[in-house]
Amino acid sequence: MTVPSPSTSARITIVGIGTVSVMQMTKEADAALANVDALYVLHAQSIVLDYLRRHYDAPVTDLSVTYAEDKPRRQTYHEVAQAVMDAATEGAGRHVAYVTSGHPLVLVTPSQLILKAAEKRTIPVAIVPGLSSLDTVWADLRFDPGPDGAMMFDATSLLLRRYTLDSTVPLFLWQVNTVETSLFSTHKNRPERFTRLQEYLLRFYPADHVAKLVHSASFPISRAEVRDVPIGEMGILAEIATSQHILYVPPVVRRQIVDMELSAGVSSVAHLDRLIDRGDTSTG
Ligand SMILES: C[S@@+](CC[C@H](N)C(=O)[O-])C[C@H]1O[C@@H](n2cnc3c(N)ncnc32)[C@H](O)[C@@H]1O
Repeated sequence: MTVPSPSTSARITIVGIGTVSVMQMTKEADAALANVDALYVLHAQSIVLDYLRRHYDAPVTDLSVTYAEDKPRRQTYHEVAQAVMDAATEGAGRHVAYVTSGHPLVLVTPSQLILKAAEKRTIPVAIVPGLSSLDTVWADLRFDPGPDGAMMFDATSLLLRRYTLDSTVPLFLWQVNTVETSLFSTHKNRPERFTRLQEYLLRFYPADHVAKLVHSASFPISRAEVRDVPIGEMGILAEIATSQHILYVPPVVRRQIVDMELSAGVSSVAHLDRLIDRGDTSTG
């Protein structure tokens, strides 16, 4: 397949700076930001914008001003993506960074819109991954996804699509505080906002099963907070859930092993001999 060459010198680098202000910014992110002509930043913390303005020569544009009460989030995301595309295609084309918190592709719609628009115009896009809040939440919970796997959904998407849950698999729900709307609002939630979510979870979990609402530290001086929320009492999320929380629902029971033959095989040398060629060490 031939890749068409870009028509301008426009380039975009999408950079995630991690979850704790700029403390988790990688050397890769730092090197990328030192090499761009302009930084377009969508981040809730003004200290992050101050830091970026102090540390990099390129001008920094704050994109958080595109949010407004009752405005569809989708519209904001399109405006953000358009601002980045316009900046990259200005004049003969520039190298522009789009900077976000966490991982820049984890629930970041503007990143996907930028990727799509750039592909249409054959503008190269590089991605610099950052530490997601999922990484920090897993660290806070001392959680390992290996033994029992993990499921995760955006809370609204779970309700819209009615994914089948499995109460033996750990579950992580994103954006619980904004469940059931695509409009932006800063107003306080009502307890009833969480009724549909509670009813759906009750199909799979007992009412007294305890979920954990987790906030990872997002400033260097703050600490992680974990609050118990029984499945039958989701209404309390109105008081405690913010845009910086993930709801973790632990398994009710551990899934039993059903393949007893394989279970015996995984620790058997004879079984390993059937899986590998001992005469060849090339993958070793
Ligand atoms: C729009 S998404 C962006 C996620 C971000 N790109 C990332 O990788 O962490 C925002 C959601 O991430 C989760 N989140 C963000 N910061 C968090 C934190 N400090 N602790 C727990 N969850 C957080 C919440 O579920 C929130 O609704």
